[in-house]
Amino acid sequence: LMADSLFIINNYAREYFTDTLFNKEEGQNIGLSYFEERGFTEETIKKFQLGYCLNTFDAFAKSALDKGYNLEYLQKTGLVTIRNDQPADNYRGRVIFPIHNQSGKILGFGARILGAKSDRAPKYINSPENEIYVKSRVLYGTYFARHAIDKQNECLLVEGYTDVISLHQAGVENVVASSGTSLTQDQLRLIKKYTNNLTILYDGDSAGVKAALRGLDMAIEEGLNVKLVLLPDKEDPDSYVQKIGAAAFREFIREHKQDFVLFKLQLSMQEAGSDSTKKSQLVNEIAETISKIDKAEDFTRQQDYIRQCSQLLHIDEQGLIQLVNKFIR
Ligand code: UTP
Ligand code: MN
Ligand code: MN
Ligand code: MN
Ligand code: MN
Repeated sequence: LMADSLFIINNYAREYFTDTLFNKEEGQNIGLSYFEERGFTEETIKKFQLGYCLNTFDAFAKSALDKGYNLEYLQKTGLVTIRNDQPADNYRGRVIFPIHNQSGKILGFGARILGAKSDRAPKYINSPENEIYVKSRVLYGTYFARHAIDKQNECLLVEGYTDVISLHQAGVENVVASSGTSLTQDQLRLIKKYTNNLTILYDGDSAGVKAALRGLDMAIEEGLNVKLVLLPDKEDPDSYVQKIGAAAFREFIREHKQDFVLFKLQLSMQEAGSDSTKKSQLVNEIAETISKIDKAEDFTRQQDYIRQCSQLLHIDEQGLIQLVNKFIR
């Protein structure tokens, strides 16, 4: 019952914010032109149900309360907060990205500040967790991507809302976003419902790579086949596809897709250099990662990794097999 009420309020807010974006002067002048400057077409804006929250103290709160929605529930959704003892709009002056569940109902929102972020305000404000929005179980874009993921038997994973949206617009529809947090087991299981093939497309900064590395062993344990595409420095999928265009971007993905386990090994080898302690440590680490591939599920894949890694490391294949088996027992 509580869950139903929150869904109803979120749906009302979604309609309110899209109406503001398209039909109110401030919405058009500020929100719509922001999206247009970012290269989003009207079709894209409508598909993702993007919106705008007026820069007033309580226009939305008033309208929702007038409608008869309960203040306590409005606060639970994060749409309304109490400021100076008054119900106030939490996302005022921000563009709105609704977050859909797998059947298209609104779980919550991301609300982006316009222009550059200031020291005081975060770039995105996201809905708080509540009865319907549990961040660790949600991947942004699943509703729009699920058929394409199933059909192409591959899921692309990006960091942000706008990455998902720009890739859709470029005809790449099998894409979901982790929304800037580390991947969780529940999110990986959600992907596994549709495909075993995960390709991570993170921002080309070192933070992006580190975030991707953190999720690798967990993804392998879930039985996913993980690939990585590193974007050029300072680019994310949104900025890069808007820069080079749809066809060139798709070509870039095809050409730069690499196996994530082998990438990790090569990265560790670079870091270790000629330090023999570090070298044996990385052999152990890679053996542990390989051991996490479920043999019953994918025996040849584990064998392939053992062969390729022993070649890269210039070590004996049998020795690596023994080490891998140690972690399995
Ligand atoms: P980014 O900083 O890469 O933002 O964070 P972005 O997606 O490229 O957004 P634009 O292009 O500047 O508009 C990646 C994701 O991390 C989450 C959001 O989900 C964002 O899409 N994030 C980021 C937050 O939740 N809060 C923040 O303040 C920043
Ligand atoms: Mn399938
Ligand atoms: Mn980043
Ligand atoms: Mn980004
Ligand atoms: Mn971006």
